[in-house]
Amino acid sequence: MGQNRSAMRKRPPLLVVLATAFVLGLAAAAGAAALVLGGLYDVASTQQHWPLTYSVLQKAMQQSVRLRARDIAEPPLADERMALRGAACFRDKCVQCHGAPGVAQDDIGKSMQPLPGPLVDARQHWRPRELYWLTRHGIRMSGMPAWEFRLSEQELWDVVAFMQRLPDLGATQYEQWMARAPPPPSCGGALPDLAAPVDVERGRVALHQHACSACHVIPGVTGAQVHVGPPLDSIGSRRLIAGTLPNTQEAMVRWIMHTQQVKPGTAMPQLGVGEREARDMAAYLGTLR
Ligand code: HEC
Ligand code: HEC
Repeated sequence: MGQNRSAMRKRPPLLVVLATAFVLGLAAAAGAAALVLGGLYDVASTQQHWPLTYSVLQKAMQQSVRLRARDIAEPPLADERMALRGAACFRDKCVQCHGAPGVAQDDIGKSMQPLPGPLVDARQHWRPRELYWLTRHGIRMSGMPAWEFRLSEQELWDVVAFMQRLPDLGATQYEQWMARAPPPPSCGGALPDLAAPVDVERGRVALHQHACSACHVIPGVTGAQVHVGPPLDSIGSRRLIAGTLPNTQEAMVRWIMHTQQVKPGTAMPQLGVGEREARDMAAYLGTLR
């Protein structure tokens, strides 16, 4: 009886709390709607984050990387030949955005938001396995690409090995390293790991990472509603690819890798997709029925 009465006494405050939460929620939703639908949020690249927003985002990024990289086993990184191969990759794939000792980044790198920093101090902030994770997976919404689809596993660690040396190099020493590093094209052309089993999920990610979704609507791949190329829903059950090839997995691999030979003059560009990626993509596309 006494318990009942106290329960009854508690009820109004609970209602008040719920009602307040509801009203606040509505206000927040209305504010968000005004921001989004009213176009109030300024997307200009010249518009900087507030210092607090920037710090919070930076911290979230750091913690995210730490957590995800914590179980990665690090190979030995001291071998100089490894670092030299990594130097070549760094020169071919990273300098445009990040710069190097005595080398400014290109215009694109200079004007990106967030600004890609010089990686000369990366060793102080990140463990090797974290540098590997960052290089492999990239950073979403920042423009830092995921290199997993461009560099082999060995090359990823080669670049990490070079980043271990980078803080000790002045401009002259950097030049000397570059003079000794293998000349281009020496990075990113490594043989794909064709022994790896076909991986449907990897194929789904690869479709995004090779810009297929820039032209095609592909179920399972988030992207704009673009119709430059035909939508690829139910591509798995279609009889022909681009009206020319009978639709088999091998034919799809050929279409993706050798588009312009298969159908000379087609509007679809040949995107330099490697065989392993093409195989995985074909497997994923095969599931769209
Ligand atoms: C297209 C431009 C671009 C290229 C090319 C690029 N990066 Fe980045 N990178 C970025 C941006 C943007 C960030 C994010 C900076 C931030 O969040 O403060 C970043 C961040 C990083 C970070 C985290 C650094 C830190 O402490 O903030 C690492 C490590 C990194 N990149 C390594 C690499 C390596 C290695 C390569 C070459 C294989 C590479 N990047 C190529 C744009 C690029
Ligand atoms: C710049 C735009 C563009 C990009 C990027 C692009 N495609 Fe296409 N794609 C097209 C166009 C246009 C066609 C139609 C070609 C034709 O029929 O001659 C097409 C056709 C296709 C078809 C045949 C569709 C059908 O209905 O028969 C497939 C499959 C396909 N693309 C897959 C891909 C994959 C996988 C990628 C990424 C590696 C990709 N495309 C990247 C424009 C693009």
